[in-house]
Amino acid sequence: MALVCVEDFEKKAHTVIEKFALDYYRSGAGEQFTLNLNREAFKKWRIRPRFLRDVSKMNMGCKILGENLKWPLGIAPTAMQKLAHPEGECGNARAAGSAGSVFILSTLSTTSIEEVATAAPNTCKWFQLYVYKDRSLTEQLVRRAEKAGFKALVLTIDAPIFGQRRSDVRNKFSLPSHLCLGNFEGIQSEGVRSEMYTGKSGINEYVSSQFDATLTWKDVEWLIKSTYLPVIVKGVLTREDAVLAREFGCAGIIVSNHGARQLDCVPASIEALPEVVKAVGHDMLVMLDGGIMQGNDIFTALALGAKMVFVGRPALWGLACGGQKGVEDMLSVLKNDFEITLALTGCQTLNDINKDMIVHESYYAKL
Ligand SMILES: Cc1cc2nc3c(=O)[nH]c(=O)nc-3n(C[C@H](O)[C@H](O)[C@H](O)COP(=O)(O)O)c2cc1C
Repeated sequence: MALVCVEDFEKKAHTVIEKFALDYYRSGAGEQFTLNLNREAFKKWRIRPRFLRDVSKMNMGCKILGENLKWPLGIAPTAMQKLAHPEGECGNARAAGSAGSVFILSTLSTTSIEEVATAAPNTCKWFQLYVYKDRSLTEQLVRRAEKAGFKALVLTIDAPIFGQRRSDVRNKFSLPSHLCLGNFEGIQSEGVRSEMYTGKSGINEYVSSQFDATLTWKDVEWLIKSTYLPVIVKGVLTREDAVLAREFGCAGIIVSNHGARQLDCVPASIEALPEVVKAVGHDMLVMLDGGIMQGNDIFTALALGAKMVFVGRPALWGLACGGQKGVEDMLSVLKNDFEITLALTGCQTLNDINKDMIVHESYYAKL
């Protein structure tokens, strides 16, 4: 069967990935209310298309942090990609490069920073950072990302501890013995596997033993001072934190609820976007991830003020459907879909998208 939308990739991936890994990839926190909301909330917005505007030639290109991208969609950091396919992070990063977009490598990857850099030298790569209690370990990660040619650091701020993902607890989720956390090989001997013995989710136990839950904005300041790379904060859901990110000198923000995997009942990313854009969007790079499944979703986020969006799970589904080629196919389906949205809304370039082209569903009831 031809795979013509992200949902098709998702369905096929569900038949390919082993159950414990599939549960890890697809689950959200708690009752998974926000998990569903991340997608559903896009349906609350209506697009107001314009016509007779010559859309015979389109250009989806954009410039983000000085980098020319072919379109405004990148791949969000997701841990342990070799659970989807042996090509893992290398395949995903190469696919992002051939689509002219950004790949963000997770700290908790199953491939090291250096291997990904070698495998995908022409991809624009950012490194997602978790801050470890062991600060020298954290600094080593930063130095390695700098040395390997990564272009930005993405500091995830919404995970001082990990949210409760019930299926991971039920499955006692852990990394199978043939895989490892690539960035810690030879540094931390056992990683996620060593914490398997208490009968709970191994990843949660790893995180609470390793990640620094004392983190505050002072540490963001420390990180910014300790690197020449731009620092983006990922996981902002409020205007208050957006303003702090600007005050502390961050280069950008990713509005995100971590794919609804941290705290349930927080807003969908697309719901939180307008207040962040209103607070800092005029002078700061605001991006978004969470629930993006089709071209219209990308359009909605851009019309509400995001400059770029990212997909997490869709790339994992693509990876499961054929490694690098599967991700390339998924990205090309999404890109084509976005191009159709642009043409049918009368937008030749991203600059033509504006907030008058989108209204909340309540708009029509009030007329
Ligand atoms: C399986 C999985 C693992 C993830 N691992 C990380 C991670 O290591 N670091 C991080 O900052 N975010 C992580 N995320 C969150 C993603 O970066 C992103 O915020 C989220 O997947 C976006 O939502 P989407 O999956 O609906 O596109 C993970 C998400 C998933 C689904």
